[in-house]
Amino acid sequence: MERPVRPQINRTSTLPKPNEYTLALENDLRHVAFSEERAPSNKGQWRSVIGIGAEMPLDVEIGTGNGLFFAHQSNHQPKRALVGLELKYKPLIQSIRRALRAGNRNVAIARFHAFNLDELFEPGEIHNVYIHFPDPWTSPKKPKNRLTNAWFLNMIHSLQAPGSFLHFKTDSREMFEWSLEEIKKTPYHVEYHTFDLHQSDSVWNEQNFKTGFEKIFLSQGIQINFIRLVKKNHQ
Ligand SMILES: C[S@@+](CC[C@H](N)C(=O)[O-])C[C@H]1O[C@@H](n2cnc3c(N)ncnc32)[C@H](O)[C@@H]1O
Repeated sequence: MERPVRPQINRTSTLPKPNEYTLALENDLRHVAFSEERAPSNKGQWRSVIGIGAEMPLDVEIGTGNGLFFAHQSNHQPKRALVGLELKYKPLIQSIRRALRAGNRNVAIARFHAFNLDELFEPGEIHNVYIHFPDPWTSPKKPKNRLTNAWFLNMIHSLQAPGSFLHFKTDSREMFEWSLEEIKKTPYHVEYHTFDLHQSDSVWNEQNFKTGFEKIFLSQGIQINFIRLVKKNHQ
């Protein structure tokens, strides 16, 4: 599968006007929140950046949004670390502040385009990955931008330690069905999937934490699609 052109995002240091969020990135949150310029120097070093031992699993959430899941997960899994990726400054800073306010010290966050994930992590450096309600890119000819395209899923797979999982949730049935076809082009094992997580008789429904967008979709009566992919131990 051919790699799309590396996406470029604007550089924080070249923004015409700093705002409270970009300033926080360079000042009080500098030790835990990384701009697209500083984040790649943590590649292979995230555990020492966060201040945890080599044995501690390191998970990744792509697109943290307002950070409800980011704060919840880091709080409920103190023996794991969590790195968030987010493109927009406000949710980026909201997410890390929410986690820090909850007393969580097992976290870091980066302003980074997910498609450049291999600039942030070494193969095998990360464990579980969460992609919750990414942009569905439903307009014609845009599916290549979806975070569940086979090329990107293969990249995530190569960066994960064997035995890790990837959770993907979306409100878009169209994107989900498209993703099921993309997943067939990857080495992932599909352990479970459903077109209606909240009506499913599954442990994943029992254990599910509702993200900010998920609450909105549920209040509109929209069904939530969910899939759990596993990187097998021998891979
Ligand atoms: C629809 S929101 C979902 C937020 C959150 N996961 C939730 O469920 O409430 C998608 C988020 O992903 C971020 N995002 C979109 N594309 C991204 C990318 N390529 N890399 C990192 N974050 C991205 C957006 O800025 C946005 O905050």
